[in-house]
Amino acid sequence: MSDTQTPHPAHIAIVMDGNGRWASQRFLPRLAGHKQGVDALMRIVQACGSRNISTLTVFAFSSENWNRPTEEVSGLMDLLVGSLGRELDRLKKEGVRLRFIGTRAGLTEKVSARLLQAELETASNRALTLNVCFNYGGRWDIVQAANALRERGEPITEQSLDAALALSPSSDPDLFIRTGGEYRISNFLLWQAAYAELFFSPRLWPDFTEQDLDEAIAEFQKRERRFGKTSEQLS
Ligand code: IPE
Ligand code: IPE
Ligand code: MG
Repeated sequence: MSDTQTPHPAHIAIVMDGNGRWASQRFLPRLAGHKQGVDALMRIVQACGSRNISTLTVFAFSSENWNRPTEEVSGLMDLLVGSLGRELDRLKKEGVRLRFIGTRAGLTEKVSARLLQAELETASNRALTLNVCFNYGGRWDIVQAANALRERGEPITEQSLDAALALSPSSDPDLFIRTGGEYRISNFLLWQAAYAELFFSPRLWPDFTEQDLDEAIAEFQKRERRFGKTSEQLS
């Protein structure tokens, strides 16, 4: 590997969107799309593991997704617990550290306990950190961080707020991917995406493959990240 090679993104964030449309196109219930979405996630986790990516952060359930039909919401809760039951051993073997980012408020005791257990069982894994944003919203996160600092009597600075966010100590994402063809952030990582490179894929999430991931990474490697500087300053 040459020194001049464009760096790989160390941290990739993904809005896994398009499960419902994937199912509708096949005249299947929306939940069938969410189930396929879990398989897609497992593929991408494995792909990240073999591509030197240290952190993958995915959006699985937003603060606003509570507004969906009750049946879909409870189906998603069951799918989370069921998927953990099915996939946890594989994730452990692959050295994945699981973290669930979001509020436990509104989750049942059973779901909360399962999330905590999975976090504890994978806490010492180091191959890949998988942050699953579940019951998460970027606005919620900024507010909870500000409140935590106020309660501790700490001044609010960029550094202190950053450290109090739920995603901490993960770094900011380098590459922010949204599948499903929409061009919006939908309340994901509002603070941390400040300088992420954005990549929008028309692919519905259940169809997203390793090749699509490579395409996003290749696009990332063509970008010039200036962080406010001029192009000349970087060379
Ligand atoms: C994303 O897929 C998964 C969740 C929000 C839980 P959607 O369910 O939003 O799929 P579309 O956008 O309706 O196709
Ligand atoms: C964002 O997708 C949330 C997740 C992928 C979990 P949505 O489907 O909820 O976003 P909107 O409603 O189209 O903005
Ligand atoms: Mg959607």
